[in-house]
Amino acid sequence: MAIILGIESTCDETAASVVADGVDVRSNLIASQVDLHQKYRGVVPEIASRAHIENILPVIQDALSQASCDFADLDAIAVAYRPGLIGSLLIGVTAAKTLAWALGKPLIGVDHVHAHLYSVMLEEKDEGGKMNNETLLSSFILHPSSFTSSFPSLGLVCSGGHTAMYDVKSWTDIALIGSTIDDAVGEAYDKVAAILGMEYPGGPIIDHIAIGADPKAIAFPRSLLGKESLDFSFSGLKTSVLYHVRGVPRREKPGAVKVVPATPKLPTKEELPDICASFQRACIDTILIKLRRGVERTGARSVIVGGGVSANRGLREALKSFDVPVYFPQLKYCTDNAAMSAGLANVLFENGQFSSLDLDAITYSQFH
Ligand code: KG4
Ligand code: ZN
Repeated sequence: MAIILGIESTCDETAASVVADGVDVRSNLIASQVDLHQKYRGVVPEIASRAHIENILPVIQDALSQASCDFADLDAIAVAYRPGLIGSLLIGVTAAKTLAWALGKPLIGVDHVHAHLYSVMLEEKDEGGKMNNETLLSSFILHPSSFTSSFPSLGLVCSGGHTAMYDVKSWTDIALIGSTIDDAVGEAYDKVAAILGMEYPGGPIIDHIAIGADPKAIAFPRSLLGKESLDFSFSGLKTSVLYHVRGVPRREKPGAVKVVPATPKLPTKEELPDICASFQRACIDTILIKLRRGVERTGARSVIVGGGVSANRGLREALKSFDVPVYFPQLKYCTDNAAMSAGLANVLFENGQFSSLDLDAITYSQFH
């Protein structure tokens, strides 16, 4: 059994986790930077890097002490080294390389997006060490190898930074087959939330306000990008919400330079739930159609959904009766965490796939 320390710093969470055997999460520490970025309604890369520097060592130390283990107990150091914000990535990668070198332990670089898919494997045990109810209901798997019968699987990672589909033949054979050509779905949620006057991150707020409201109240568009396409587009939907709320911009009078919105006001409390529900339904419908196309194209036997938006109540509900079994992570493993990286690293560890100490951080543009 391998005990692996995972480190995550790809965006705005500094996280460290100790995972045994690829599934048994012994600790899962996350220092969130939401407060720092909230007033900008999105992540400011320079602020994120500086906060990672301050947080990384205390978070690693807390992860070890909560797991009741020492550096000496670790079999490997894993780190998410791509994709992400370059300044943020560099902090985690540097910390991991330094630890691996100083301790003489193997280093394992992990792809953050692939780790989001792997997060469906993570167990949570209650105080007595038994699997809790949520685990028993949602997760059927006791070891990564048990998932083999569900491959090939169609992977969907939907988060603030990514919306992409993958042909997952195994945990180490993951091929990109479609991705967003503009906004990620979580990004659309966050931007629509800003349009509606809500705080960042807006995804969970919209999800909550949509409960019980009418998803058919407003006919927002579903961008499908052609009959065959497995790519996504959410920026038109976002703009459609903007125009619905503020009105379509028009000239003050014919030929005038000044453009005025038709209804320059925020929606009322009464209007808000239907807008949220209709926007959410448009996102979910689009995802459902793309997943169907993906399953047809790849012959997938199952679907894995990961990333922050996989916490979405409406999406989980809609996929309950999908054509093939759909696996979601437990809620605490949907958003960025280091347990998913430590877990996936266990597969690489067992295959002897280690990284060298000159592992480089790789940002969005170098990755597809
Ligand atoms: O995976 P994650 O922590 O970070 C990235 O890798 O981007 O995802 C964060 C994103 C944010 O955009 C947030 O609004 C969205 O996930 N999110 C949700 C929900 N919970 C988080 N979106 C919709 N519904 C939710 N319940
Ligand atoms: Zn992520």
